Amino acid sequence: MTEMTPTRPNTKKLFIKTYGCQMNVYDSDRMTDALAPHGYETTLDMAQADLVLLNTCHIREKASEKVFSELGRLKELQTERRALGGDMLIGVAGCVAQAEGEEIARRAPVVDMVFGPQAYHKLPDMLARAEGQRHMHPALKKAIIDTDFPEEDKFEHLPAARKEVTIKRGLTAFLTVQEGCDKFCSFCVVPYTRGAEVSRPVHQVLAEARGLVDAGVKEITLLGQNVNAYHGDDKGRVVGLGELAYLLAEIPGLERLRYTTSHPRDMDDALIAAHRDLDILMPYLHLPVQSGSDSILKAMNRRHTAAEYLAVIERIKTARPDMALSGDFIVGFPGETDQDFEDTLSIIREVGYASAYSFKYSTRPGTPGAGLSDQIAEEVKTERLYRLQELVNAQTTAFHLSCVGKTLPVLIERPGRMPGQVGGRSPYLQAVHLEGSTDLIGAIHPVEIIGTSTNSLVGRLKQAVAA
Ligand code: 5AD
Ligand code: SF4
Repeated sequence: MTEMTPTRPNTKKLFIKTYGCQMNVYDSDRMTDALAPHGYETTLDMAQADLVLLNTCHIREKASEKVFSELGRLKELQTERRALGGDMLIGVAGCVAQAEGEEIARRAPVVDMVFGPQAYHKLPDMLARAEGQRHMHPALKKAIIDTDFPEEDKFEHLPAARKEVTIKRGLTAFLTVQEGCDKFCSFCVVPYTRGAEVSRPVHQVLAEARGLVDAGVKEITLLGQNVNAYHGDDKGRVVGLGELAYLLAEIPGLERLRYTTSHPRDMDDALIAAHRDLDILMPYLHLPVQSGSDSILKAMNRRHTAAEYLAVIERIKTARPDMALSGDFIVGFPGETDQDFEDTLSIIREVGYASAYSFKYSTRPGTPGAGLSDQIAEEVKTERLYRLQELVNAQTTAFHLSCVGKTLPVLIERPGRMPGQVGGRSPYLQAVHLEGSTDLIGAIHPVEIIGTSTNSLVGRLKQAVAA
């Protein structure tokens, strides 16, 4: 059920386009919340928007370039709106804004505001300044740029995840607990765009989680670029992600907890023990290794070997034998030989992933990897990516098939694609479809898995024997 917010006469329309990772999804919701008290309401139609924000991703070149083509389209929409007597303000947020700041304003003069992820709490103020320039001659307008890494904690100023947003988005929610990264993998822009590792204090995280659960959320995914490096303050004491999980598990009504993305070096004993002890912690872990070759791992500055990664997995599986794993892989990092790539395929075979994301190495300006001389030819990257994806796709299919015949607890989240069907997620994050009434939505039900289809499972509701 959705709550209706009465439309105020001077309501302005906001359209946010979100690129990239789940943290951007979370951030876009926080920006929506920050603008609501200033009369902004979201619209699904970009052409109707008084304010368009592009929340961008800089992780790979392709992701970055999308922003400039979208700005070209926006320029046309803005011209159309102006011809009809309206206007459209345009802001670029996120990691491209952080990395390219002034360059965006120069390349795309249509942009009114450029601001990085650490400036979201200042958005209403920036917007007021942009609105103040509205009637200026275009030559005199100056884009408002904020790519500072301020001292203050933006979360102290940003609204926490709110009920309205939650209801719209359903039974699952993201909650950012940590931002930034101190690992400096040599291919990655994150330490430069999101800045140094910062953890939110425990009381803030618990309060936001309780608010989400009060609003009907059953499953929370804790977010952080390096989420398992979480080290939040609890009245002067430092709390790690493992301990945080135990604290969150005490919230009545919270049924499932996940977290992403983790670094192998930060899988400490407390977190592994939490996986052993807490049913609420789902047995599905995204733990990227990037490569299976020790020399490439070294060049990537991952600070662990393939054997150390496998040893971490072994410890996790001892604590939680049904743990399903997911990973990220980069092919064609500078200097990657055929043998290095074979080592990556070997580690994939050894781990057996439930799912995986894989990418061709993309040179990111300003990262150490960009300065390396032995870059790999595009055709070689393409061929390696194809082979790697063939292998992980086969593993995903095998994992789905291994679930057939089992009864899994499924959080039923929504009506299915066909009438009379509902859909939800297994503990292993697989989509599950089954015949059933929409009354099932909102709770975890036992579902017998009777088949698979592309990227999902087909199930049958198992009647609970007793309540
Ligand atoms: N090129 C290709 N893939 C990258 N990733 C991060 N930086 C790059 C890059 N320069 C991938 C990594 C990371 C995921 C979020 O994106 O696999 O884990
Ligand atoms: Fe990027 Fe490495 Fe940090 Fe992950 S751990 S965000 S890949 S620098």
